[in-house]
Amino acid sequence: MIARPFAELSSIGVAVPPGVLTNHDLAGMLDTSDDWIVERTGIRERRIATAEQSVAMLSRDACQRALEGAGITATDVDSIVLATATPDRLLPPTACDLQALLGAHRAAAFDISAACPGFVFALTVAEGLIASGQSGTVLVVGAEKLSTITDFEDRSTAILFGDGAGAVVVRRSSSQGRGILSTYIKSDGRLAPLLYRPGGGSADPISEKVVCERSHFMKMSGREVFKAAVLAMAEACDEAIRRAGVAAEEIDLLIPHQANLRIIEATAKHAGLPMSKVMVNLDRYGNTSSASIPLALEQAISEGRVGEGSLLLLVAFGAGFTWGSSVIRW
Ligand code: UT7
Repeated sequence: MIARPFAELSSIGVAVPPGVLTNHDLAGMLDTSDDWIVERTGIRERRIATAEQSVAMLSRDACQRALEGAGITATDVDSIVLATATPDRLLPPTACDLQALLGAHRAAAFDISAACPGFVFALTVAEGLIASGQSGTVLVVGAEKLSTITDFEDRSTAILFGDGAGAVVVRRSSSQGRGILSTYIKSDGRLAPLLYRPGGGSADPISEKVVCERSHFMKMSGREVFKAAVLAMAEACDEAIRRAGVAAEEIDLLIPHQANLRIIEATAKHAGLPMSKVMVNLDRYGNTSSASIPLALEQAISEGRVGEGSLLLLVAFGAGFTWGSSVIRW
């Protein structure tokens, strides 16, 4: 086997819609309160896209920033791997719409459906594309418009989700030791009904019945998902650290999927990391599914919490169930 790292994250860009929905706004719409939401989740506000702001458009803005950061243009991109649970259309892949918007005419473009850990799954695929020689430069995108699949009449889920996009340029590793040191991805489809959209897909195509039953929106058994998330995130941390051949104490920053502050705290505790070594920004964005890790990573970089040589641990869990992790030398 060839030694890692094959691939490095060269730059990052993010885009969030300007529209803000606060807990107080939600308390005016539903039987809930700012206190309850903050105490149970850590979320204070989230961004909501307008009808005109598509996933492809948010992704384009994030990608343009990432391309600029890497000092390359869209025509330098060999592949676009876009993780989303909210494609703009079911056909074609949103990555192809993104490709057209960017003018990345040389690229192969496709979507990944892996829910909240979609960014980690996409990173894993990108690393494989680079290691196999298929691509030299890959745009990895996590982008969501979860507001379109959220039931704003269901207080158990409406408080959680937000919209946004993040993108990284992944390239062949340029310097010794810099790049993706490990990835770990896992799923358990037996637990799918604990977090899913029952209607609107090919099993139960969109119809008046689906809309009346509101089954095109996300349904979640929150408590069960919470317990599974804590266990899976812990396992994923252990596995990424083991595969990278590093010690947990060497991790400079944990960048977890931003679903719930209590899940993040349990994950950090399991990994033996103090909260000072954990990036948290769900108070501002809520759960943005596949966009949450790049949004948190970009903020950590702009706050000076990530520098050259920083050892990062990414970890996420979501519908499927799916979970994954990665150790990266920045
Ligand atoms: O990103 C993908 C993975 N997703 C997650 O990781 C989410 C995991 N789950 C969670 O984050 C939490 O389970 C929630 C935040 C969704 C819920 O928190 P919880 O502490 O597990 O609450 P619960 O579902 O056990 O509900 C406790 C009580 C219930 O009332 P009773 O039965 O005790 O009378 C709920 O009806 O809180 C009630 N409740 C609310 N009250 C005020 C549920 N939602 C709300 C709300 N406002 N928005």
